Amino acid sequence: MANPSLLILAGDGIGPEVMAEVKKIITWMGDKRGLPFDVTEDLVGGAAYDAHGTPLTDATLAKAQEVDAVLLGAVGGPKYDVLDFSVKPERGLLRLRKEMDLFSNLRPAQCFDALADFSSLKRDVVAGLDIMIVRELTSGVYFGEPRGIFKEGNERVGINTQRYTESEIARVARSAFELARRRNNKVCSMEKANVMESGILWRDVVTEVHQKDYQDVELSHMYADAGAMQLCRWPKQFDVIVTDNLFGDLLSDAAAMLTGSLGMLPSASLGAPMANGRPKAMYEPVHGSAPDIAGQGKANPIACILSFAMALRYSFDLGDEATRVESAVEKVLADGVRTADLLGPEGGSPISTSAMGDAILAALDASL
Ligand code: IPM
Ligand code: MG
Repeated sequence: MANPSLLILAGDGIGPEVMAEVKKIITWMGDKRGLPFDVTEDLVGGAAYDAHGTPLTDATLAKAQEVDAVLLGAVGGPKYDVLDFSVKPERGLLRLRKEMDLFSNLRPAQCFDALADFSSLKRDVVAGLDIMIVRELTSGVYFGEPRGIFKEGNERVGINTQRYTESEIARVARSAFELARRRNNKVCSMEKANVMESGILWRDVVTEVHQKDYQDVELSHMYADAGAMQLCRWPKQFDVIVTDNLFGDLLSDAAAMLTGSLGMLPSASLGAPMANGRPKAMYEPVHGSAPDIAGQGKANPIACILSFAMALRYSFDLGDEATRVESAVEKVLADGVRTADLLGPEGGSPISTSAMGDAILAALDASL
């Protein structure tokens, strides 16, 4: 059988720096675990715009559709703020999500014990936290029509449309219930059914799917604003949260801070199974391109490395190897190894992006 294939789109800002550390881990898997991957690389975001005048070429998209999994770094930067909306770096990322139909975005928020004092919340609120936000990723207000800035009388009006079909809600609900069964068997669905028709439909469909096929899973519903409040008040009440595209964007950034640093959070974006049984998939850190620290070797590569661990688990059914990578990260953190974002108010001396990657490699070696 052919080696599993990966397309690396490192993108902009710190993307290439953190991805360089992931490449070391990919090589390690081939050398030390007999799990070689076929890796190709291409451009996305501002880097693609600079080279081709578009944040995602059709050729790159075609490659993304063919491989077993895409690994993405980050897109965007102040240099591109002046560009027309249609060619902004973010459009490349959104086009990948939409065209690959990656409707289920898994954003785990796990608090590593060594970092529990780092959160802006108290230790007992976050220690041991392990929740999963399942964000709908291909519909809702991100893609709904009509959209645009129009002239109405003598002023302009900006319009976006929140639109969800029953089948779009049902498929992401199913993926949340399936995940919950492999975790603590609880799903909390979040919307704004008190003000939005799309929220009423969301609640109805999630309830129907639950009644029909997942009665063994505990289901609750919450308005998304209350959900944000509960995430900060007592996040450990949650196991899996399922929500729409925009609420998921907001709630996952909030959840990220529970864990201490945005530099820690991975994500997986999954679609329907391909002919080989593997899901269409893209893996990316939740953090952005961090232009303020780009090119300085300061970035934390852990979110990107943990995203590769998610690829091992969800695309390649290599849960044990994923756990190996996650344990290596945990060990390094427990040993007090810190990039700059992981230093508390008391300071200390941070190590570089590549030194963090090397420390994780050493922990991997030690796991053999
Ligand atoms: C995210 C990001 C993206 C989003 C941006 C970069 C388009 O914030 O993945 O959470 O809004 O989805
Ligand atoms: Mg976001």
